[in-house]
Amino acid sequence: HPTLSVSRAALLPPPDGPGDAAGQELPVESRPFASYGSALHIALPQAPRAGQLLTLLIDYEAGEGPGVCWLSPEQTAGKQKPYMYTQGQAVLNRSFFPCFDTPSVKFTYSATVKVPEGFTAVMSATSWEKQKDNTFVFKMSQPIPSYLIALVVGDIVSADVGPRSCVWAEPCLIEAAKKEYDGVIEEFLVVGERLFGPYVWGRYDILFMPPSFPFGGMENPCLTFVTPCLLAGDRSLVDVIIHEISHSWFGNLVTNATWGEFWLNEGFTMYAQRRISTEVYGLPYTCLEAATGRALLRQHMDATGEDHPLNKLRVVIEPGLWGVNPDDTYNETPYEKGYCFVSYLAHLVGNQSKFDAFLQAYVNRFKFQSITADDTLGFFLEYFPELKEKGVDSIPGLEFDRWLNVPGWPPYLPDLSPGQQLMRPADELAELWAADSLNMDMIEAVDITGWRTYQLVYFLDQVLQKSPLPEGNVKRLSKMYPKISKAQNAELRLRWCQIVLKNNLEAEYSKVKDFLHSQGKQKYTLPLYRAMWGGSEATRALAMETFSATAPQLHVNVQNYVKKILGLDGAE
Ligand code: BES
Ligand code: ZN
Repeated sequence: HPTLSVSRAALLPPPDGPGDAAGQELPVESRPFASYGSALHIALPQAPRAGQLLTLLIDYEAGEGPGVCWLSPEQTAGKQKPYMYTQGQAVLNRSFFPCFDTPSVKFTYSATVKVPEGFTAVMSATSWEKQKDNTFVFKMSQPIPSYLIALVVGDIVSADVGPRSCVWAEPCLIEAAKKEYDGVIEEFLVVGERLFGPYVWGRYDILFMPPSFPFGGMENPCLTFVTPCLLAGDRSLVDVIIHEISHSWFGNLVTNATWGEFWLNEGFTMYAQRRISTEVYGLPYTCLEAATGRALLRQHMDATGEDHPLNKLRVVIEPGLWGVNPDDTYNETPYEKGYCFVSYLAHLVGNQSKFDAFLQAYVNRFKFQSITADDTLGFFLEYFPELKEKGVDSIPGLEFDRWLNVPGWPPYLPDLSPGQQLMRPADELAELWAADSLNMDMIEAVDITGWRTYQLVYFLDQVLQKSPLPEGNVKRLSKMYPKISKAQNAELRLRWCQIVLKNNLEAEYSKVKDFLHSQGKQKYTLPLYRAMWGGSEATRALAMETFSATAPQLHVNVQNYVKKILGLDGAE
């Protein structure tokens, strides 16, 4: 069934030429394209000349498509008013408006949005203006791909947190939102500009979304959308903000031309994120954070098998009804294997400031364009002719071609040993907790009260990797560290729930349920359903019960992925 209905298309006369201002009506037709959308065909009266500008007017109505999410008051933080938001990436905006829904096409846009009394509209646009009658006018003056157009309408308010930044949130969250990031955003932007060149988007604002928002963050230009889980009270999850800021150069300025090379967006962004983090928070902390990323890549490859075709950087996305849905390529590989590849390029250069200069030149060379990995790597070799000379693209085992086209574990891993000072205590403590008979003296001698969130995350990932632990250990661990087992921080809650499930700690199954009721982020939701489904009778029942209670709150994509895990996806 159509999620976007087109009622009329017309060809408008050239701005200064003769012709009917209402335009000449054109026949429209919808043709099959893929499982995730159809093609809109508009027949032109005559074939256009190359380079000729045509203005088409398309009347359409958007409704229940996957790109447009309509939330009831109960699904918001305030529970008073409904809310709507759009999420375009990867291929959902085709259900929001008719477009060339490919990252290879860039365009500017403007929009006039009329909303009911008591609501505010915001978009990913360089200018925002409120007119009378609850009408908002938006303009994006830089060319962007379709997936970066985004709209929210809700009961939202804003508060300044920097000279070019504010936070948006529902009124009941705005204080917490302001407190979380007041005065810290500007520094990330300044460091980003120093490393990668001018910030071209004007403002950088952050919108805290309702709990069911499926991502940690989404880099909509001028206005990043984030999960309310980031409101940890201690800025501990700020790496997500630095990540989305990094997309201002990698992804939003230089864009992957196809979703098959999504790693160009995410791998470079992970690298940029960690460069900014290194400048602001230092190398040890950044290496610790990167180590937690590497653990996620390990878990992902273990779960899917290293040889899985999605575990290569360049994924084949065939057009047509049986091709891979680009949204299905969202996993740790483009992020963390992509990060390793970019780190490998930096390693080949061997000098951080030279590589930083390359990144800036790369952004400058390809800004406002959509490119392929061949463009990136060609530019790299052109920029460093001495490396090209040496044939660094074909070192046995480390061929660029292998990085792109062979699935599996990265053939090069950046050195994270500067993080050892933070990781070693966590490694040692995990070791102690995995012992058959617990050495409580040694365990009690370790004081974790001063540990950073990511140290705890790293510790829990080690515990998870060693799980199931010997009988009784996890129960004691839970008692000993309420800071972990009763944590409110979402990254800690995810790991704790994974440990609870892997160790069949039935007494704490309710925590899994509570966590899944409290938010709907895909990267938290799917691993927990996988763990429940792969566990006992009891955890399978827990999965079914939790899903039937929470499904209506989840983003449709997340709903469908959970259904697949639970075998509820029927014939598909
Ligand atoms: N652009 C992504 C989110 C995304 C990816 C949406 C694919 C739709 C399809 C965003 O920049 C992102 O990577 N978010 C991460 C943040 C993390 C890596 C710090 C997330 O949501 O977890
Ligand atoms: Zn990203």
